[in-house]
Amino acid sequence: MSPIYERLSLAVSRDDEILALLDTLPEPKRQPNLLYGVVRLLRGPVEDPAAFREFLVANWPAVDAQMRRRATQTNEVGRCALLLPVLATLPQPLALLEVGTSAGLCLYPDRYTYRYGDRVVGSDGPVLTCAATGVAPPRRRPEVVWRAGLDLNPLDVTDAADVAWLEALIWPEHTHRRTRLRAAAAIAAADPPLLVRGDLVDDLPALVDRAPADATLVVFHTSVLYQVPEPRRAAFVELVTRLPARWVSVEGPHVLAYDDLPDQPDEGFHNVLALDGKPLAWTRGHGEAAVWFGPSGA
Ligand SMILES: C[S@@+](CC[C@H](N)C(=O)[O-])C[C@H]1O[C@@H](n2cnc3c(N)ncnc32)[C@H](O)[C@@H]1O
Repeated sequence: MSPIYERLSLAVSRDDEILALLDTLPEPKRQPNLLYGVVRLLRGPVEDPAAFREFLVANWPAVDAQMRRRATQTNEVGRCALLLPVLATLPQPLALLEVGTSAGLCLYPDRYTYRYGDRVVGSDGPVLTCAATGVAPPRRRPEVVWRAGLDLNPLDVTDAADVAWLEALIWPEHTHRRTRLRAAAAIAAADPPLLVRGDLVDDLPALVDRAPADATLVVFHTSVLYQVPEPRRAAFVELVTRLPARWVSVEGPHVLAYDDLPDQPDEGFHNVLALDGKPLAWTRGHGEAAVWFGPSGA
């Protein structure tokens, strides 16, 4: 999905000097996305592997410091286009609680516009386009009366440094994603969600207790569990299924497994959308497509 990063990754993989530098980092920090995001944050070049190499070697102390300090926390509002058909089937209004929320931008599914083929839902906010098959897209956006997010390190859309990091995490060619990130950040800044620093197991029950009683509580997460070690993933699933909440997830089947999953449409569909642990659709990473195989109910 990013020819620039593909080219860079091939060059890095063959460069013993760069690999030796990366080996000085703790293992979880040796991530391509983290390295390239930090170089872009520091205004280094990524289009030309030779220029990238020169920058990296000359600026390694600064890159090293940022890679240790930061984490991959891409906040992709496009994923709301995957959530919308599910949210529309639930009794309204909704109280949304997102675990692994990053800056909380996926807490505003009611403020974005969606394009599913010919069906356009909503008329304001950034436009999120999703090629969805096997589902009747909803006719309207959900009604959201409460939004709260939990993250080990919540990012703040009113903080220029946090927004710069969120932008640097978006792959270079994906200008449309940067544009909609800025639009979504403006929406969140004007009406900030409740963001809580904490762990998705240890701190979830206390946040659930703060949800209003007269709305359907939806606990959801997208592309989070791959960052959570296995015993904690199991503890989270055990917890979330006991909560007085509906549970919506968009995760890879290697971190959230299901029986009888139909074949993956192609390797780009690497996540599965599920409601209350029942798989509904294969989805692309940034919400750009979904192939439904479960009931849509919309
Ligand atoms: C790849 S980002 C995805 C952000 C957002 N869900 C989205 O789809 O745009 C994963 C987020 O999960 C958070 N995270 C990882 N482990 C966590 C944990 N144990 N408890 C809470 N948040 C966690 C990270 O800090 C990061 O912000």
